[in-house]
Amino acid sequence: MLDDATKQQVLSSALRLRLASSALTLDFYNRLFDRAPELRAMFPADVTAQADKLFDMVLVLVQSLDQLQMLGPEIEALGARHLHYDVTEDQYALVCEVLLDTLAQHVADWSEADRNAWSVLLNHVCELMITGARNHASSAA
Ligand code: HEM
Repeated sequence: MLDDATKQQVLSSALRLRLASSALTLDFYNRLFDRAPELRAMFPADVTAQADKLFDMVLVLVQSLDQLQMLGPEIEALGARHLHYDVTEDQYALVCEVLLDTLAQHVADWSEADRNAWSVLLNHVCELMITGARNHASSAA
């Protein structure tokens, strides 16, 4: 789980967000589709609703840093749903990297410490999602 310094760093960078709305996650999708145009077809033509959901998820994570273990089952279930969106394990690293690059553009005074702290948080989320997807796949087999 995240140590106190990591949680503090994530919280502090969230408070430095210049763009704290789904405009942030819309920017994320634009960057993702620039980096990997082949992913565009996986998403609806209008990604506004998707951007809202992803931003809500980011907010929940920031608000739940002290109780992340309680979110475990929810995050694993999200990973299982991603199997149905045809998401593969190797796509998680790219999504995390683009999320970090997006935050870097919108957090004032973004630093290496911010990037490291968000990496720890996002890696944790991706690991849980992948576990959820694997468990779901093996229970369906
Ligand atoms: C940090 C990891 C990720 C998080 C937190 C995340 C979050 C979400 C959320 C909250 C949704 C809304 C639908 C739902 O709750 O089931 C969603 C849908 C979706 N995500 Fe992710 N996701 C992640 C990784 C990925 C990756 C790696 C891909 C691969 C490109 C991806 C592709 C999709 C697609 C295609 C949808 C469905 C879009 C639609 O048809 O409406 N996600 N994601």
